[in-house]
Amino acid sequence: MSKYVVWMMAAGLVACTTEEPTLSTTEDLVQYHSSSGFIPNKLPIPNASGWATTISTEGRIDLGNEFFQDLGTNGRRCVTCHLPTAGWGITPEQVQLTFALTNGGTINDGLGLGAIFRLNDGANSPNADVSTQTKRRKAYSMLLNHGLIRVGMPMPANADFELIAVDDPYGFASAAELSFFRRPLPSTNLKFLSAVMWDGRETFAGQSIHFDLSQQSTDATTGHAQGEALTDAQRESIVNFEVALHTAQEYDRDAGNLSTAGAQGGTEAVIDQVFYIGINDLFGDSQTHMPFDPVVFDIYDAWNNSSKRERAAVARGQRLFNTKAINISGVSGINDEAIFGTPANVVGTCTTCHDSPNAGDHSTAVPLDIGLVAASRRTIDMPLYTFREKSTGAIKKVTDAGRAMVTGKFKDIGRFKGPILRGLAARAPYFHDGSAATLEEAVEFYNVRFNIGLTSREKSDLAAFLRTL
Ligand code: HEC
Ligand code: HEC
Repeated sequence: MSKYVVWMMAAGLVACTTEEPTLSTTEDLVQYHSSSGFIPNKLPIPNASGWATTISTEGRIDLGNEFFQDLGTNGRRCVTCHLPTAGWGITPEQVQLTFALTNGGTINDGLGLGAIFRLNDGANSPNADVSTQTKRRKAYSMLLNHGLIRVGMPMPANADFELIAVDDPYGFASAAELSFFRRPLPSTNLKFLSAVMWDGRETFAGQSIHFDLSQQSTDATTGHAQGEALTDAQRESIVNFEVALHTAQEYDRDAGNLSTAGAQGGTEAVIDQVFYIGINDLFGDSQTHMPFDPVVFDIYDAWNNSSKRERAAVARGQRLFNTKAINISGVSGINDEAIFGTPANVVGTCTTCHDSPNAGDHSTAVPLDIGLVAASRRTIDMPLYTFREKSTGAIKKVTDAGRAMVTGKFKDIGRFKGPILRGLAARAPYFHDGSAATLEEAVEFYNVRFNIGLTSREKSDLAAFLRTL
């Protein structure tokens, strides 16, 4: 049975009959709900390790909001890629289901005609052949396999680097438009943001996050939905809707209720969590001027030494996240930046980069290259670009140029923001390129990349902790 049907049953929106309703796509779902008009707060939405909930501080999730409306020309809505049933992002599983069931198909003979399947940025190439079902599966393979959207961008004007080679398995990318395959970021918990988008391209100097999100909403409509720019009123309405959303894992199959026995997990506590830009910054808190505190997460303190084995594991994972020493080296944005004194090695922790209290994103906009885009990690379904710095002739081979496409600076190649680490269990796979299928794989990436030497128990504790966020 599909996640949506389970979800609607849980919501009491569909009677529990033996006949399975056919409402299985985002579009159908939204249309169906337009009649009831809202999703109640704290509705349990199942995922692989338990369930997550969302609370809107507006009292309920208003399905009449522009976020759910068809405001473009290709059928896309914000909800097409930011689903309440996928942690306000998308998952490959859900995309595959949409492919299978859209336009009257049943599993295996679906036509893949749902609105997410559009050539402009859903397909591996805008020129892909989508004339048959088999060809459509191939054309949308990055979306179907990894939940990746193609972000197309031209080489920035006046860049201090040039593109000297393109290896695009889909035969499209060039200096006129490079293809970067990226995961949608969740459109929830936005109060924790210090930078908007993986590369911060919707963050504008001297402007508030509210302004940034307003600009983002209209760009998403002209881009993804191929529509006209939104009116100020529409933008305002979308932003107010988004910033009211708070999401977290509420129940974990191993640890149980995440806000019990003194623990402060779950969505309610997210609403009360203080955030401002520069909170707990490495160079001192921007408001209190207190020094950086590596103890970033404390919501599971009460489970330290819990007699319940699974809860003690979560608390141990939290402790590792806060305190396990990591030799941070070769990270562009830290080890090569004057502001840090260009140290070859910084002894830090996970929280050196994930410093926002109980949110886990970077509290200031510090784009970093932790090594995900390296040619050595490239899989054959990813494009590979070779860039050359004009002044020095230095070469970088990467799958995604990241922040450099915004600034035009060679040094910014491969740098991305540190994202919010709440509601993770609902939205695998992880990292901008979806390269970690599970949280265990994300932990293993760090273990190998920074040679941390985690034991197998430490790895599973860290993953257990991340699952409960
Ligand atoms: C076709 C899929 C798609 C649609 C439709 C879409 N988005 Fe997104 N969204 C993405 C992707 C992919 C990203 C990340 C891209 C990047 O950072 O380069 C993103 C990022 C975002 C972010 C940034 C969050 C953060 O942490 O920085 C917000 C907010 C957002 N989208 C809101 C919206 C809104 C509002 C709409 C409707 C007007 C919308 N999106 C429509 C795919 C989509
Ligand atoms: C040197 C800085 C740095 C350190 C140290 C660090 N991270 Fe990250 N983390 C990042 C950045 C930057 C990203 C986004 C990378 C990307 O996708 O391009 C990220 C992404 C993640 C994600 C994926 C989130 C998502 O939405 O996909 C997880 C999970 C994560 N980190 C966990 C950890 C854990 C656990 C540790 C400690 C073992 C850790 N990080 C240490 C900088 C860091």
